[in-house]
Amino acid sequence: MTNWAEIDGEVKRWIQEAGALIRESFHHSLSIQSKSNPNDLVTNMDKETERFFIENIRTNYPAHAILGEEGQGDHVQSLNGIIWIIDPIDGTMNFVHQQRNFAISIGIYENGKGMLGYIYDIVHDELYHARHGEGAWMNDVPLEKLKPVPVKKAMIGISSTWLINNRHFDQNKLIALANEVRGTRSYGSAALELAYVASGRLSAYITMRNAPWDFAGGKIIVEEAGGVVSKLDGSDVNMLTINPLLASAPGLHEQIVTGYLK
Ligand code: IPD
Ligand code: CA
Ligand code: CA
Ligand code: CA
Repeated sequence: MTNWAEIDGEVKRWIQEAGALIRESFHHSLSIQSKSNPNDLVTNMDKETERFFIENIRTNYPAHAILGEEGQGDHVQSLNGIIWIIDPIDGTMNFVHQQRNFAISIGIYENGKGMLGYIYDIVHDELYHARHGEGAWMNDVPLEKLKPVPVKKAMIGISSTWLINNRHFDQNKLIALANEVRGTRSYGSAALELAYVASGRLSAYITMRNAPWDFAGGKIIVEEAGGVVSKLDGSDVNMLTINPLLASAPGLHEQIVTGYLK
């Protein structure tokens, strides 16, 4: 039997340790490289933080698989068994340019089911976390169950990228939604935007392209807080591919899917 409470304690300790190393890195110069394009940044801290988690997981849980954004884990092709899905720094562009608005994100899945989720906003020392069937917390404070929000009172997280020159989705539908809601925000970290949905700071978050490591931790936290995470048409997300994503308070999710995105 897997001892989830023990794993939960370990992960929280590792996250605090990794957070301290990242905070410390603010005093040193970063090595910054580009990946798929000049704006797709990665730093030595993204890679070192991913390695830090991988080494700890391999030592303590050698049977578990690891899917990490920087590719130092396993080549995961199925959801069988226990899989750690890790984004060592979500919001790297913010990390490089702002030294804020970035987070560590971890989701631990067993046969595709989300068991433990973590999003750590290092600069604000805010750890959002959830355990399957037990609820979600911000640090030690339980998150209140999300209540339905009408579209007219909704604050949605959406990047302006998706409202201009959107190759992935009919942008007029998104513009219609953006016109109806109370306000739009863009933080540049999918993980933080999901944490904000879970804690009610945002009513919903919409993106056309999220990788599993962007939303693996957040999905568990949003769902444990009573929210809904799906593709834009309301169908289930695929934990092994890039997805368009809608995370939302209950009620609002259905209104957005049927009223604007279909
Ligand atoms: C990115 C951020 C960003 C989102 C991108 C992600 P990264 O993650 O979450 O907000 O719009 O889709 O790739 O590369 O900074 O870990
Ligand atoms: Ca990245
Ligand atoms: Ca990310
Ligand atoms: Ca990242």
